[in-house]
Parts: sequence; structure tokens; C-alpha cells
Amino acid sequence: MGNLEIRDLNQSFTRDDGTQLVVLDHLNFDVRDKEFVCILGSSGCGKTTLLRLIAGLDEARAGSIVLDGEEIQGPNPKVGFVFQEYSLFPWRNVIDNIAFGLEMKGITKEERYRSAEHYLGLVNLSQFKTSYPSELSGGMRQRIAVARALALEPVLLLMDEPFGALDAQTRNMLQKELLDIWDKTKKTIIFITHSVDEAVFLADRIIVLTPTKQCFLLIGLLCSHHDQAASARFFP
Ligand SMILES: Nc1ncnc2c1ncn2[C@@H]1O[C@H](COP(=O)(O)OP(=O)(O)OP(=O)(O)O)[C@@H](O)[C@H]1O
Ligand SMILES: [Mg+2]
Repeated sequence: MGNLEIRDLNQSFTRDDGTQLVVLDHLNFDVRDKEFVCILGSSGCGKTTLLRLIAGLDEARAGSIVLDGEEIQGPNPKVGFVFQEYSLFPWRNVIDNIAFGLEMKGITKEERYRSAEHYLGLVNLSQFKTSYPSELSGGMRQRIAVARALALEPVLLLMDEPFGALDAQTRNMLQKELLDIWDKTKKTIIFITHSVDEAVFLADRIIVLTPTKQCFLLIGLLCSHHDQAASARFFP
């Protein structure tokens, strides 16, 4: 499962002068199980703020986020996160980076390395398992970050502009790889991007976050690479 319900979500921050910066204001939307949703918006409009709330990394001022009937009230093993910046541990090699979260969950060494190798294979980097992050390109590091998030077997995968820092060619390759992984693992994915092209290529549905009134526009899309059933949900 991976059904998400966002209800009347508000987030604001207190500025140095004591005034409030309202970033998200009465936000409401749902994401369905196994759906691939892209959130588009310009810099500073609140995309990372929203994703951190869904991941339970920050607490909202008001409103609720419910995943499969349970309110998110803190970090949740059902939610995976691929961050905007490279976030691998530089002192751990590739396989140890992927196995890290499993170690934290108390999974046995044999089982966590078996699982880490499986996900390393899924991102096509098996031959680099003993390399260190400093020896990898930006694209390879983001693939490892994807494998690390997947290894925890979340039902919902949150991706915050994961390919934003990559060149166009690498980004296109990783987009195709991600769709392939999504097809194989059938996760619910929320993917943040600045790029309309990227959103149109990847998404079942695009949510546009506007910088002024924080209102959301929902756009149903027919995407040729996605199954007809997914498209039919938005064009019944
Ligand atoms: N912890 C914080 N304290 C104060 N203000 C914050 C905090 N986190 C975010 N903000 C402010 O909230 C607004 C939204 O920030 P956010 O990081 O969500 O933007 P974004 O849409 O992810 O931008 P980008 O595309 O550049 O990553 C910005 O004005 C930012 O300065
Ligand atoms: Mg951001």
C-alpha cells in the first residue's frame, strides 16, 4: 500500500523580526497507491518543506498527513527519502551505504548485504560495490542514494530534485532507469522537479505548487509510457 492523504496542511516559519513566513497554506491533495506524482514549482515555493513534512522530519503547524490510514507523526520506515543534495556517507563504501538503514533496523549482516546487493543491481552499479562515494560521478551517487532508499522497502518514496544537479544526458538516462525501477518495485513515488519536461516524462499526474498563494493545481496527464489504467483514473 502507499495511499497518502494531505488535509489542510499549513507550515510557516518565524522570521528574525518575529513575523511569520507562510509557506504552505491549507494544502489538500491525495496520492494513490503506486502512483507516480511529480510536484513542480519554482525555487522557494515550499517543495522541500512539503516533502520533509510527509517524511515526518518536521512538524506541521496545522493539518494532517495520513499514510495508509495512519497519521505521520515522525520519521516512518514506510517512507523513503532521496535528498536534493548528494547525501551518502563518504567514509562508507557503496554497499555499506546501501546497507546502512538496514543495519539501523537491526537486520542481520547476511540479510542486509543480500538485500543491498539486490538494490545495487537494480540501479546497475553492482561492479562498484566496494567503491567510495568520492570515486563516483554525481549520477552514480544519486543512483546509490536511490538504492539506499529502496533497500528499506518503503511503500512511499519521496525524491527531492534527485537529478537536478546532473547534466541533461545523465538525467535522461536516470529518468528512464527510475521508470524501470518503479515498474519493477511498484512504489508510490512523489518526485519534485523544476523541469516541466522531466515532470511530463515521469508522472502519472503533476501537481503545480505556485509561489504566491501556495495553491495547488492538479493536472491529469496521459503519458504514453504509463499504463492506460493509470491515465483512465484522471480521464474517466
Ligand atoms: N527551517 C526553516 N526556517 C525558516 N525558513 C525556512 C526553513 N525551511 C524553509 N524555509 C523557507 O521556506 C521557503 C520554502 O523553502 P523550500 O526549501 O521548501 O523551497 P523549495 O521549493 O524546496 O526551493 P528549491 O527549489 O530552491 O529547493 C523559503 O522561503 C525558505 O527560506
Ligand atoms: Mg528544495
